[in-house]
Amino acid sequence: MKKVGIIGLGEYLPAKILTNADLERMVDTSDEWITTRTGIKERHLAARGEAASDLAAKAGGQALKDAGLKPEDIDLVIVATITGDMPTPSVAAILQDKMGMKDAACFDISAACAGFVYAISTAHQFIACGSYKNALVVGVEVLSSVTDWQDRNTCVLFGDGAGAAVLSEVKSGGIVSTYLGCDGSRTGVLNIPAGGSGNPATHETVDKRMHYLKMQGNELFKIAVNTMTRAAEEALRRAGLTFSNVNLIIPHQANSRIILAVAKKLGIPEDKVYLNIERCGNMSSASTATALCEAAREGRVKKGDIVLLDAFGAGLVWGAMVIKW
Ligand code: COA
Repeated sequence: MKKVGIIGLGEYLPAKILTNADLERMVDTSDEWITTRTGIKERHLAARGEAASDLAAKAGGQALKDAGLKPEDIDLVIVATITGDMPTPSVAAILQDKMGMKDAACFDISAACAGFVYAISTAHQFIACGSYKNALVVGVEVLSSVTDWQDRNTCVLFGDGAGAAVLSEVKSGGIVSTYLGCDGSRTGVLNIPAGGSGNPATHETVDKRMHYLKMQGNELFKIAVNTMTRAAEEALRRAGLTFSNVNLIIPHQANSRIILAVAKKLGIPEDKVYLNIERCGNMSSASTATALCEAAREGRVKKGDIVLLDAFGAGLVWGAMVIKW
């Protein structure tokens, strides 16, 4: 099996910013409530007509440039998203055309907030066994398109964005271990009830606002802390490492209180935890992707460092990964 690592990263956040003050004018909420309960101050929103593939193309272009590759060098495109341009075709297929990655294999992965870790892990397998050479993996969401802007329980939480990584064979370092999993008995606590084959779109489903994300946040909180802690522990055990070896943890950015509770349980100091939730909110599969890109750009990740990705979301899925930089 070949060693596989990340050789390029890119990010795109839409220009429009929605602040907590803006939300105070839309629903019965306050900057104080949002900040203390979630850690979020503002989030980016895609412009009308700006689709997931548009965000993905900007992040993907940056990642290719960072890797020093051309679009035709990419032979595998995997996009993690729950907010594709349309139900079919995949965002990956649309992205292939937009970026000119001719003939590359293309598919999307639906693993919500753990989607980027799932997608990186999938690309890793394909490259390690020699089926493909260079993969572009993108975590992208336009969550504003499935957010109920009348529901204060959810609308203060989400944002739009894209992060991308190019994976290829590396001589040293690379992906050391992965731990993916799911508890499918808890699909009811976080979902979009209508718009799929189980409940196709009708006037009634639209009137009942069933095409928006529904979340039992309180119920999820404790599960998120416990699951992310367990996932991180297992990924490190599989890597033969301990938390003292970790230089930086890149967690899914659902809530800063969840993240800091996980770090505390794991005994990881706060200065080893990367956060972009204050500026970006929860961007589902784009959260870990953009956070990794920003951390690398800011010099928080150096050659030889041990980086731990740790994500959790609707499914309920989890994915943790240890990467040697
Ligand atoms: N502004 C003001 N008040 C709000 C509010 C808002 N935006 N949203 C909810 N509230 C109110 C509730 O109505 C409730 O009022 P009540 O006590 O009068 O009924 C009160 O605040 C407390 O609500 P609760 O849901 O218990 O708050 P919380 O402390 O659990 O925080 C979340 C809510 C969503 C921020 C938090 O539960 C969370 O982050 N959950 C996990 C999210 C997650 O992990 N998702 C999975 C990965 S995406």
